[in-house]
Amino acid sequence: MKPPAIVLDCDTGIDDALAILDFTGRGGQILAAGSVHGNVPAPIGARNTLRVLEIAGLEGVPVSVGAARPLAQPLMTAEHVHGDDGLGNTNQPPPGRSVEPGSAAENLLRIAHQRPGEFTLVAIGPLTNLALALLLDPELPSLIPEVVVMGGAVSVAGNVSPTAEANIWHDPEAAQLVIEAKWKVTMVSLDATMQALLTPPDLEAIRTATSARAQFAWAILDHYLDVYQQWLPGRTCPLHDPLALALVLNPELATYRSLSTQVELRGGTRGTTVCDLRVDPANPKSDPAEGWRNVRFLDQLDVERFRALFLEGVIGG
Ligand code: BDR
Ligand code: CA
Repeated sequence: MKPPAIVLDCDTGIDDALAILDFTGRGGQILAAGSVHGNVPAPIGARNTLRVLEIAGLEGVPVSVGAARPLAQPLMTAEHVHGDDGLGNTNQPPPGRSVEPGSAAENLLRIAHQRPGEFTLVAIGPLTNLALALLLDPELPSLIPEVVVMGGAVSVAGNVSPTAEANIWHDPEAAQLVIEAKWKVTMVSLDATMQALLTPPDLEAIRTATSARAQFAWAILDHYLDVYQQWLPGRTCPLHDPLALALVLNPELATYRSLSTQVELRGGTRGTTVCDLRVDPANPKSDPAEGWRNVRFLDQLDVERFRALFLEGVIGG
């Protein structure tokens, strides 16, 4: 079977980098990538994406720089989590090629018109580029049947505020535009990604592997593990973005439920994904109230199988 093809929107970032290594290491095809502000400023995210693709041996994937800031709030970045360079302060050499002309949103529109219905759009950073593309072309959802987003928190704590997850919190207005658009949205929220933790044997397998991708993964993981030691017991970290990309390759890793959802735009809970948990997930309302949309979230996740596949992808040959 043909490997699934995606267009990737990312804020590369340690876990974004791990996601790209795993997805491409297991045959996933990235048609194009766009960077967005988030973990680091968008130009640094693009440079990191080029570098990770180089490690993966994929120097033909076009990468463009996207939105420099959110729609309606100032730029906030997360170097305290991902390092000053976004790749765990590993001082990577500059990539051997440059970004594409044009912005990530414009290039997303172009490829969607060239290849209607042929790829899944996967966003593992704030949703500003997707929102800009929707504003430029409201018919975009007719060309892209499915969008997978790493973001949100339904029934667990947030990771940037008591209730908000980082990718949604970085641009709540953009996230609301994305869920309101008429495409099928799957959100891989913290409820699932905080279960997808690397174990000591997983880390040992990555540390001792000799492939270029494993050695790169090990180098960038060190900083991430140090950071997560503040929040999690032992030396471990969640695989937020890798889980989102893995589900494109292996949707059977999880079961899903549909929840009527909106993004909170005001007050101290700004950036929170609010879900109507009263709705029977087996029979979602076909027409949720104004501003609310049915979004697919994970229900049960096969964590063991996901971790095993992730190791295959990242260690690779
Ligand atoms: C998300 O925020 C970023 O820090 C990660 O790269 C991931 O996309 C997790 O909340
Ligand atoms: Ca990310």
